Amino acid sequence: MLSVAIEAAKEAGHFLKYNIGRVRTVETKNGQERNLVSEIDKMSEEKIISIIKRRYPHHAILAEESGSSTASSDVKWIIDPLDGTTNFLHGVPIYCVTIAIEQKGELVAGVVFDPNLDELFTAEQGSGVYLNGRRIHVSQTSTLIQSLLVTGFPYDIARNPDHAIDRFVNFLMTSRSVRRLGSAALDLSYVAAGRFDGFWEVNLHPWDTAAGILFVKEAGGKVTDFDAGASSIYKNQILASNGLIHDEMMEVLKRSAAT
Ligand code: IPD
Ligand code: CA
Ligand code: CA
Repeated sequence: MLSVAIEAAKEAGHFLKYNIGRVRTVETKNGQERNLVSEIDKMSEEKIISIIKRRYPHHAILAEESGSSTASSDVKWIIDPLDGTTNFLHGVPIYCVTIAIEQKGELVAGVVFDPNLDELFTAEQGSGVYLNGRRIHVSQTSTLIQSLLVTGFPYDIARNPDHAIDRFVNFLMTSRSVRRLGSAALDLSYVAAGRFDGFWEVNLHPWDTAAGILFVKEAGGKVTDFDAGASSIYKNQILASNGLIHDEMMEVLKRSAAT
C-alpha cells in the first residue's frame, strides 16, 4: 500500500508543480472567504483516487474535496491533494500532497511529497520515518527558548479567534521564533526531520495531520492535544514536538487559554 501511496503522491505533486500559475477557477468553501479551492485541487484528488482504486477498489477513502466514500473496509485512505492551497494560489512554492492509510482505526502508513524541493517523506508504523530514503529523527533541542516553532491559523480566525492570537504572541515571546509555512502536513514533516522543534494548531482536519502525526511519532517525537491527551486526527487541537519541549509548550498553551 505504501508504494501505491508514493506513486499517487508523486504523480499528483508533479501535476501541482506544473499547474502553479495556471489556475482558472477559484471558489470559496463552507461560506468562508479565506478557505479556497481550485480546479487543480480537485483534479489532483481525482488522480490520486484513481491510482488507489485501480489497485484497491474496495478500500474506503476520506478525501478533502470529495468527502467520505461509502465503502465498508478496514482500510481507509486519507487524502489531502494539495496542502497549502493559499500558497499555491499566490505562486508561493510551499505546498505538498499528503496521503495516509488507516487500518482498523490506526495510522499504519503515510506519505508527504513536496514537488518543489523533491522531498518525499514516508513512514510505516513501527519502522521509522524516512526523507528520500534516509531515516530522520526529531531534534534534540531541550529548551523552549532555543526552539524554532511553527504554527498555522484557522480560516475562520476573524469570526472565531479561539485564543489563536494569544498563543502565537506567547510563543513568540518564549521561543527562538515562530514560523507560519501554510501547510500543516509540511509543518509536521519538518518537526519529524528536526527542522522545527514544535508545532501547534487548532481546527485542522484528518487529511491535514494523518501522515504527519505518524511521522512525528516514528521520528521519536510526541503528539498530544493541548492537555496531554492522546493525539487523534479527529481532534481539533494538535501539539507535536520533539518530546523534550512538550511540557514547556503545554504550559504556554494553558496560560494562553486563560488570558
Ligand atoms: C491548510 C494548511 C494550513 C492550515 C490550514 C489548513 P489546505 O490546508 O494545512 O497550514 O493552517 O488550517 O486548512 O486548505 O491548504 O489544504
Ligand atoms: Ca490541508
Ligand atoms: Ca487541501
